[in-house]
Amino acid sequence: MSFNPIGIFDSGVGGTSIWKEIHSLLPLEKTIYLADSKNAPYGKKTVRDIVSLSRKNTDKLLSMGCKLIVVACNTATTNAIQELRSEYKIPFIGIEPAIKPAALKSQTKAIGILATKGTLSSALFSKTSELYTKKIKVIEIEGNGLVELIEGGKKDSLATENLLHQLLEPMLLQEIDYLVLGCSHYPYLIPTLKKILPKKVQIIDSGEAVARQTKAVLEQNHLLNGTSSAEIPEFFSNKNPMVLAELINSKEHNFPVSYMDF
Ligand code: SIN
Repeated sequence: MSFNPIGIFDSGVGGTSIWKEIHSLLPLEKTIYLADSKNAPYGKKTVRDIVSLSRKNTDKLLSMGCKLIVVACNTATTNAIQELRSEYKIPFIGIEPAIKPAALKSQTKAIGILATKGTLSSALFSKTSELYTKKIKVIEIEGNGLVELIEGGKKDSLATENLLHQLLEPMLLQEIDYLVLGCSHYPYLIPTLKKILPKKVQIIDSGEAVARQTKAVLEQNHLLNGTSSAEIPEFFSNKNPMVLAELINSKEHNFPVSYMDF
């Protein structure tokens, strides 16, 4: 079982920001990534649909022999991970907005959270937020339209920059010093966010924490790959493999990216 792959799924290409952290921390692990871009964005769907899409992705990854699944989508984690954990026998790792570190470190006592409607309205998000943000001001903003731009290969476009300006205005008026990215697509916006936000605003995402948690859970379950040769990761998209390939490949490597109907 320890030689089997780690499965990772997202509503689209954004979860590759999480895959990068996992691949960097666990280079010997084989990974299979599913981009459900055909159904993006999940953030506007009902809880019932998000759960059903998460089951579909899980079934596909299990049919490919995965030993553990990373739900690299905040919306799917906050709305579906409890069902997945109760219905399937393998371990699941989820991704939640890093509210706790931002709330604890904030000096201005005002933090911003940029996430999808599905994440911000979920019960799991409300529980975490209530726990850590009693004494600070939290400005929650729905990132409507951002996932669509990233899925369309337009993360660095003027349209994205203009939309971010518009969305972030309420946060800038409140003097936030931390911005929490609550969607796995958003780390791809960091270069543009840095142009818009004042220098004192720190941007926090959950990628590294998810990779560390993946390693810990593999260790606890005796599932770490004990071999010494790195396995080539595989990527599948049911809509736009080109956008996926652009995000993961570089001069250093050219991993296989394929179209697959799932
Ligand atoms: C979405 O599909 O709406 C965004 C994915 C996420 O919440 O991470």
